Amino acid sequence: MEVTIERILPGGLGLAHAEGRTVMVALAAPGDRLRVQVDRIKGHVSFASIKEIIAPSPERVPPPCPYFGRCGGCDFQQLNYQAQLAAKVEIIKDCLRRIGHLEDVPELQITPAPDEWRYRSRAQWQYDAIRRRLGYFESGSRRVCDVAECAVLAPKLQQTLNSLRQQMRDGSLPDDVRDIRALVGDDNVAIAPPCGISPIRGPRRSSPAAMGMVRKGSDLTMGNEELREVTRTIHGEAYHLNAESFFQANADLLPQLIDSAIGEAMGETSVELYCGVGLFTVPLARRFEHLIGVEAVTSAASFARANLAYAGLSNATVANQDVGDWLEENLEYSALSPLPEGRRPFAVQGRLDFLLLDPPRTGAESRVINGIHNLRPKHICYVSCDPATLARDLKKLIAAGYTLDSLAVFDMFPQTHHVETVVHLRC
Ligand SMILES: C[S@@+](CC[C@H](N)C(=O)[O-])C[C@H]1O[C@@H](n2cnc3c(N)ncnc32)[C@H](O)[C@@H]1O
Repeated sequence: MEVTIERILPGGLGLAHAEGRTVMVALAAPGDRLRVQVDRIKGHVSFASIKEIIAPSPERVPPPCPYFGRCGGCDFQQLNYQAQLAAKVEIIKDCLRRIGHLEDVPELQITPAPDEWRYRSRAQWQYDAIRRRLGYFESGSRRVCDVAECAVLAPKLQQTLNSLRQQMRDGSLPDDVRDIRALVGDDNVAIAPPCGISPIRGPRRSSPAAMGMVRKGSDLTMGNEELREVTRTIHGEAYHLNAESFFQANADLLPQLIDSAIGEAMGETSVELYCGVGLFTVPLARRFEHLIGVEAVTSAASFARANLAYAGLSNATVANQDVGDWLEENLEYSALSPLPEGRRPFAVQGRLDFLLLDPPRTGAESRVINGIHNLRPKHICYVSCDPATLARDLKKLIAAGYTLDSLAVFDMFPQTHHVETVVHLRC
């Protein structure tokens, strides 16, 4: 079948129409004239892959990575960087119009990444001990694509991958390891599980764990602690975390992202949902008299508490709880006066000044949106890594009486269709 790609859709596929069908083509560029092969049909949509480029889009460039098309990691290397940025803006506008039903979608500015390559400071590699392959899952499969060099990895992570591959070759990489996570800190790289690798590091600094602030899980041992935990300084704040913790993959853009999310916000009370190890929690605690962070993963909540303590901030508490559960409990407890003693630090009473949420790609569940509605914050900041779930949730918040104040876009993930959006809403 021959098609012409009209535009890039949310999810990164190219849209075309041919033979009365909607065709979605992987790894395409807008304007490409292609011969495609239909791999799968779902309803009225045919999912296809490129067999031949009949006439390339002017935005098409040769993908520099030898694994492109096989590795499931990057799906935008066929686009020049300006085209990647333009496609991301269109994806967000498309979601806001189609899913969010927003009538007046504002003009969107996207902040490019300072380095469109070598930006990833966090990686998750897969190891297939039987076939001796180490890399990323192949696109749409659980097969491991053996990757010697990854063009988007920060240099220290590439060095770590080189060391792990050397261990794979000499047989010292443990066979029972499947999934290896690595995270670049200021001085060293944290790896989980440690895999027996020598640390890539500079001079040591004292960490919250070294200061006795972080509760050590049974998996932390003194001998390999430096491989399990790193310090990452962003915008003058020191964050301590390990390779298993969620942390934004592109550290270069984090100062701008934090500034955009927090802006001029300050006041008495604030809540941060899905707070992770405290990327926004620490700067927010400097601006609000009281702050409550909520995070489901116990180790991340412990790091967030330690990072607040390390920054000398005692006006913030972190609830280690599911956000939906916390909001429902908060509603129950805020109706009680006085509050039950044990719940006092985790309950919000009165009107909230500011609420920041930064959920995973699935966005906020309906009960979370209802819970936010009940808290009625004057100002909401929604940080999102998925334009489709963001648009779905914005529609509900706008229906609940919020108005869209501003929207900023950050290219945290060059060479992929992923994008980060920061939205401010007021009521
Ligand atoms: C996108 S990350 C944001 C973390 C943090 N804001 C940052 O930028 O580093 C989402 C966080 O939400 C947490 N999380 C996911 N689902 C959750 C839930 N239902 N309740 C509470 N936390 C959740 C994850 O563990 C993760 O730390």
